[in-house]
Amino acid sequence: MTTAQQETILEFVNVSKSFGGLRAIDSLSFGIPKGQVTALIGPNGAGKTTAINLISGVYKPTSGDIRYKGESLIKLPAHEIARRGISRTFQITKLFPGMTVVENVMLGRDFGMKGRSKTFTTGEKVAATELEYAMEVLGMFNLKDHANNLTSELSLGQQRWLELARAFAMEPEFLLLDEPSSGLNLAEAEALLDKLRGTCSLGCTILLIEHNMRVMQAISNYVIVLNHGQKLMTGTPDEIKNDKKVIEVYLGKE
Ligand SMILES: Nc1ncnc2c1ncn2[C@@H]1O[C@H](COP(=O)(O)OP(=O)(O)O)[C@@H](O)[C@H]1O
Ligand SMILES: [Mg+2]
Repeated sequence: MTTAQQETILEFVNVSKSFGGLRAIDSLSFGIPKGQVTALIGPNGAGKTTAINLISGVYKPTSGDIRYKGESLIKLPAHEIARRGISRTFQITKLFPGMTVVENVMLGRDFGMKGRSKTFTTGEKVAATELEYAMEVLGMFNLKDHANNLTSELSLGQQRWLELARAFAMEPEFLLLDEPSSGLNLAEAEALLDKLRGTCSLGCTILLIEHNMRVMQAISNYVIVLNHGQKLMTGTPDEIKNDKKVIEVYLGKE
């Protein structure tokens, strides 16, 4: 951990994940500090997306354990993991294209934690409070004016914002973001992540896969570097940036 008094919210304990003969994650152990922004970095194929898929329950580890607040997640189905407050976005945006912007936010909420009102079943059966809440979230992500547009009418940047709005609307305690800045320029990426960090400042923990070193530095408190499914090193963004091993395996290839 970064400091002795920092609480660990999520822990990988000797986790491996094989796909056939390929070890995508190899005896990986690390802790994620609560209430911080942790960046997961590493070259293409290092196992970053697989790690997030293991946390959210898309995949199950071949061996090892993943613990969230001390509870093992590896036997839980994905929706049970989501119910515990873990929310995610995808490397390739997965919105519902035939639905409107506000519907996408409300549907995300329906799958979310806390067993909140389940009134969203059809377009007409929407509790006013849920709709108001969704509109409020859209406002936070600069999408209020597009609430009734189809998602396919949004620009790529707006679709990224919407995916984050949807994840955020689930009131996550732990937010997993797979390359949220992809397709955005540096200024857009920084604005977006600043917004998220601000909106999450009341106790939300973020684990973020980030390709861009400058964004990583601007936004994270703690960094885990993966290479070939293994932990290369952990540290602060400054420590990572200046580390020779990291420069060799990661920066050297960029
Ligand atoms: N579903 C899968 N089936 C087979 N191989 C996979 C699967 N998912 C990921 N991999 C492989 O696991 C390795 C790690 O992939 P990934 O986690 O996507 O890396 P990263 O996100 O760091 O670029 C790669 O070699 C990739 O081809
Ligand atoms: Mg990936």
